[in-house]
This record gives sequence, C-alpha cells and structure tokens, in this order.
Amino acid sequence: MARNCLNVYFVLAFLFASLMQVALADIYMHNPRGSNNRNCEHNVNRNNANRLFDSQNNGAGGYACPRKKGGPEIVTPTMYYYVGSVLPIEWTSQHSCGTGNGLCNYVIQYMCEDTAPGVRDGTPNDANDPATYTVDENTNNSPNVGVHEPIDNYKKCRTRRRNTGLFIADQRQENPGSLSSNSPATQTRQNPGGNRYGWECAEERDYWPYWHPTPWKDIAIYTHNTSMCEWYKSESQNVKEKGECFTVEGNPASQNNYQDCLSEGNVWNVTKPHGIPPPECLSVNLIATRDNHLGNSVNLQMQGYNWTIPDDPHKRCVLRVRYNITTGDYHPFETDSKLNFPKSPVKQDPFEKFGYNHYLSLAMNTNQYGRTFQDRSYVFEIKSRPKEVPSWAKIYNLNVRGKRGNIVQVYPSVEYDFVPNYLEAKGGEYLHIQWTGSDYNPPRNPNDAEGAPNTGDRSNFVQMDYPHVNFPRLGQHHTMFMDEDGKADTNLVTKLAFVNQPITNSSLCLSPTELLEKNGKNKALAEQDERNCGKLNAASPYFDAGLVVLRTSGKFNYMCTRNNNFSNRSQKGTLIVTGGKFNSSSTLQISTLLMVLSALIVFMMQ
Ligand SMILES: *[C@@H]1O[C@H](CO)[C@@H](O)[C@H](O)[C@H]1NC(C)=O
Ligand SMILES: *[C@@H]1O[C@H](CO)[C@@H](O)[C@H](O)[C@H]1NC(C)=O
Ligand SMILES: *[C@@H]1O[C@H](CO)[C@@H](O)[C@H](O)[C@H]1NC(C)=O
Ligand SMILES: *[C@@H]1O[C@H](CO)[C@@H](O)[C@H](O)[C@H]1NC(C)=O
Ligand SMILES: *[C@@H]1O[C@H](CO)[C@@H](O)[C@H](O)[C@H]1NC(C)=O
Ligand SMILES: *[C@@H]1O[C@H](CO)[C@@H](O)[C@H](O)[C@H]1NC(C)=O
Ligand SMILES: *[C@@H]1O[C@H](CO)[C@@H](O)[C@H](O)[C@H]1NC(C)=O
Ligand SMILES: *[C@@H]1O[C@H](CO)[C@@H](O)[C@H](O)[C@H]1NC(C)=O
Repeated sequence: MARNCLNVYFVLAFLFASLMQVALADIYMHNPRGSNNRNCEHNVNRNNANRLFDSQNNGAGGYACPRKKGGPEIVTPTMYYYVGSVLPIEWTSQHSCGTGNGLCNYVIQYMCEDTAPGVRDGTPNDANDPATYTVDENTNNSPNVGVHEPIDNYKKCRTRRRNTGLFIADQRQENPGSLSSNSPATQTRQNPGGNRYGWECAEERDYWPYWHPTPWKDIAIYTHNTSMCEWYKSESQNVKEKGECFTVEGNPASQNNYQDCLSEGNVWNVTKPHGIPPPECLSVNLIATRDNHLGNSVNLQMQGYNWTIPDDPHKRCVLRVRYNITTGDYHPFETDSKLNFPKSPVKQDPFEKFGYNHYLSLAMNTNQYGRTFQDRSYVFEIKSRPKEVPSWAKIYNLNVRGKRGNIVQVYPSVEYDFVPNYLEAKGGEYLHIQWTGSDYNPPRNPNDAEGAPNTGDRSNFVQMDYPHVNFPRLGQHHTMFMDEDGKADTNLVTKLAFVNQPITNSSLCLSPTELLEKNGKNKALAEQDERNCGKLNAASPYFDAGLVVLRTSGKFNYMCTRNNNFSNRSQKGTLIVTGGKFNSSSTLQISTLLMVLSALIVFMMQ
C-alpha cells in the first residue's frame, strides 16, 4: 500500500515536472545577447519555452530579436565577428559556482551552417508576428520558423534508445511516462516526459561530452575539478570521432552502441572529429559566484569567457552556454545506473530523524539533482579577417549589452552597458565597435529609458573628460580616435556620436526649436519625436563602426548620451591604450594651450 502511494506520488511528480515550466533558476547570456527562446514577441515573458532549446530558465529572461520592427522586407544586419578577434562572452547564473556549495561546470559551444545547415532565428511575417512557433516537419524549411539543430539530430535521438547506464536516482522505471530501459534518448532524468524543444536532443543537452555525433563545436569548459580536464579534452568531438547506428537503408536505428548495432545487422557510422583544437579547460574558481543572485563574479565583472573567434568563417552561427549544477550528496561524475533505485543515495524529499528526536524534512527533487540550464545567442556571422589587418594585431570586439527599461523592468536581463566596459589595448591594435538591440522590447514608459516609445534599444559612443563627470568632451578635443596626422578623426567621432543618422539633412534631423514647435511646445513629446536625432530616435538598433585602429596612448572614458541617466542608469566605459603613435595628454595640452591663447587674443582685442 505504502509502495503504491509512493508510486502515485512519483507519477504526479513526473507529470508535474513535465507539464510545468518549473524554472526559477538559471543562466542568462548578456553578450552576445541570449534569446532564452524569445524571438520577436513584445511580451514581458517569452511566448514559447519549447521554441529552439530547453533552457529551464525563467520566462522573463532573454533579449528580443535583434531587428527593426517589420516583416521579411525589413533587413537588420546581424552581428559579425572577425576571425581572431576577442569576443567577451558574458552571462549571469544563479546557483553559485566555485564557492564549494555545489559542484558545477559551464560548457561553451558554437555551431554554424556546416554542421547545422538551415540554422536561423525565424523571420516575422509582419510587424505583429512574433515568429515564435516551434519547428515541426512541415515548417522545417519555413523562414518564419527558427531552427538551430538540424531535423536529423532529433530524428536520430527519437529513435535511439537512451543510455541505460546513466544514473537516474530513485526515479522508478515502471511508471508510465517515466524512464524505462526502452525509452528513447529524448527522455532523460531531467526530461522524463520527452518534451520536445526545437530539434534539440535531450540526452545530448543533459550530458557533455556526448557519446554520439553532435553539430556543436566545443569552445571551452569551466569545471569544478580540473583533474577531469584531460578526459574532457580527449572526449570532445573536436578531436574524437563519434559513432551512431543506422539501418542498412540509412534510417536511424535504435541501438546506441557498436555491439548491439552490428548484432541487429545494422551499420555503425562514424563521424570524423570536427578537426579543431580541443576546448580550453579552466577552473570554475576563475569565475566564482555566490548562491541566489544573478550578479557579478571576480573583478566586478559578470561571469564570462574571452572567446578568440576561430578561423571558421560562416554566414550563420549560434553560440550556446550551458550551466550544469549538482551537489556532492552522491558522486555525480562517477555515479551510474548501479546506484539507481532502490540504491540511490539521493531520495525524493526525505523525511527522517537524522539522529535527532524528531523528523526533519528535506526538499530534494531527484529529477533536478544534477541539472543543466542553457542560453543561446541569435544568429551571427564569423567573417574572415581583412587583409590589411596585420596578423599580430589583436582585434577587440566592443559591444553593448542590456535592454530598454529600468533595472527592475529588465530583470533578469540587465540595463545597458558597454562590453567590455574596461579594456587595455596597445597602439596598432583594433577595436571592432558594433552593437545590436531590438525594437520588440515590451512597451515601457519612455522615461524608463530615453527616446521614442516605438524605438527600442539605441546607443552611441562619445568620449568624456572624466568618468565621474557626465558630460561629453567637446567634439574638437577628441583624442581617442585620431587620423594619420594626429588630429581628431572627425568623421569617425561624428559617426560614433550620431550612429549614421542623417544629421546633415535638416528635414530629417530637427533642431530643438523645430522639435518643440512640431510638438506643440510639449517637451516630453519632442523628446520622443522620431526626428529627434539628439535622442538617437532616427537610428537603427544595429550599428557597426567597423575596425578602428588605436593610434593614441592614454586613458579614455566614454559614455552613451541617450542611455546614461544618473542616478538611474550608467552606460560608460574606459579604454587604456599604451604604445600609441600619438600621446593624448600632449595633444590635450596643445588644444588647451590654443584655447588659452585665443582667449588671450580675444581679451587683448577688447
Ligand atoms: C552535468 O553534470 C553531470 C554530473 O552531475 C554530468 O554527468 C553531465 O555530463 C554534465 N552535463 C553537462 C552538459 O555538462
Ligand atoms: C576529480 O576528478 C578526478 C579524475 O576524474 C577524480 O579521480 C577525483 O575523485 C575528482 N575529485 C573530486 C573532488 O571530485
Ligand atoms: C555517416 O557519416 C557520414 C559523415 O561521417 C555522413 O556523411 C553520412 O551521411 C552518414 N550516414 C548516414 C546514413 O547518416
Ligand atoms: C577577458 O580579458 C580581459 C582583458 O582584456 C580581462 O580583464 C578579463 O578578466 C577577461 N575575462 C575573463 C572572463 O577571463
Ligand atoms: C532619466 O530617468 C528617469 C527615471 O527613469 C526619468 O524620469 C527621466 O525622464 C530620465 N531623464 C530624461 C532626460 O529623460
Ligand atoms: C532630406 O531628406 C528629404 C526626405 O527624405 C529629401 O527629400 C531631401 O532631398 C533631403 N535633402 C538633402 C539635402 O539631402
Ligand atoms: C531616477 O529615477 C527615479 C525614479 O525611479 C526618479 O525619481 C529620479 O528623478 C530619476 N533621476 C533622474 C536624474 O532622472
Ligand atoms: C606623453 O605625454 C606625457 C605628459 O606630457 C609624458 O609624460 C609622456 O612621456 C609622453 N609619452 C610619449 C610616448 O610621448
């Protein structure tokens, strides 16, 4: 009887777990902007948690599609990164890592069209279409529907038996809807109901390094146990071939290992390694965070990884970061099916005396002891390095993270900031200043971020004298970017300030007086006017300054004039350049001297 009750309980627990989006926890990527399965919805919460991948994250997370509003006729350029450039990947995660309170790892990967043909975000059909359907066999080729892994990835997973050597704790195999030894690889301890998320394979999602072929190329792993690094590196598909079973006709077969495959008369097909270096393996202690917050790690920065973009140019790629947490209540990295029910060292919600005079109840969901969260970027491009950039010269990507709104409205995303917001570089090296945003953020009171209510994320880049004085430096005194002759590079500086708005056309960019007149002297309306280029209202959510060579030594501070709003929001950065061709302090002295001289002349002429 007791046993039956227990069974009923477990069935309920499974149903609950598979029907509900139980998610409070999590990893959110902020640079590049993580979608958390969002696309072009205007909602505070995402529409569809099953769209592309299983994030297990909170529905309010994620950045909206990097687009201007509209259907396929609206083409907003995608972010691109040059081969060899450094891209700071940044994320926050909730459950602590590197503090000793649990065991954890982060796995960072990317894939492009070569291993994932058809990879795409999903393009809206019109301005009101969120384009958030989950792909199916009929829509697999529809541009309206997003696709990450190719359809075969899922078809093989659905046919292949799950790996029955895995630890599934005390989850009973004989319950309907739970895991049996015949369950396919789409059903796992974390996804016992076999819910589908795009064409992702649940077993591949939950485990890494995976033992069958995947489209993902490994970039880096942060581990709590660096003794496992050699094993991780040698098991990565970057360097190791992986096999899978097909029928002689070439259809996916159910056997998940070489022996069973051959003994059924099927064919074991081996996929070659990706043929790239093994992933970098690092200690999670380098990016430690405490429990129960989505905040910063060491050096006041988010958790992250500086990705040197590989020599693997493709038009369409996506980035994936997984956060895998567990506890030491069992030996998670060594435990296997030998310790499954009834021997499981972790039990569903134990209610025991633990050596006391009364019972203590513990919250333990064995479904979630050992849990993986993930986030993914939108599609980006990897571009070959321009010939004129010498191979020794580093390229630093300089981007913007965050979304429109105040800190509470955007949570668990973040307010705007530059990424990196502190950078040291050398003369002759390059910045690639580029950012994207979305016009699909939920409508907010425009005061919660500047600009027209119908425009979304916008930024610019203006040098300032001091980081604590919220004023742009006078245009003529810019020292950060100089031309070959050591003069302020006016074209570039103007471009960075006005981000390609038509400021030379007085009918497209209005003066303050014209704006007030046009809006019946209403200042608030004037601020939101689409012809207010001072507020960047006529700009695109995407901006690219291309490569900018650093010629001037010095410590430079810069800000975004639209979004920086003390004390509610700060969008500022610092760049330190050493070994430049020119010297910013001496240049400043000359311009200061000129000012003093001209003041003297004016004074003497009076
Ligand atoms: C997560 O950790 C478990 C051990 O608890 C391990 O078996 C699994 O492969 C890891 N998965 C990922 C995606 O890192
Ligand atoms: C770290 O990994 C090594 C190699 O797999 C293993 O022998 C050792 O027990 C692990 N240490 C901890 C603390 O998990
Ligand atoms: C077997 O693997 C190769 C790649 O190594 C692939 O080209 C081929 O399509 C695979 N066979 C089947 C039936 O999928
Ligand atoms: C990335 O590189 C910068 C130096 O350019 C360094 O300050 C920062 O700590 C690095 N981030 C990580 C996560 O290693
Ligand atoms: C700055 O932000 C505050 C609060 O979010 C807002 O009330 C104010 O209007 C903003 N400043 C400007 C100039 O719009
Ligand atoms: C300014 O923009 C308007 C509207 O697009 C256009 O008709 C006009 O020719 C432009 N003027 C100049 C000087 O480019
Ligand atoms: C900052 O925001 C608060 C309300 O959230 C507002 O009262 C205050 O005026 C804002 N500061 C500025 C400078 O706009
Ligand atoms: C730059 O100017 C500062 C202050 O005038 C001076 O100390 C420094 O030596 C100069 N550096 C170069 C490379 O000229």
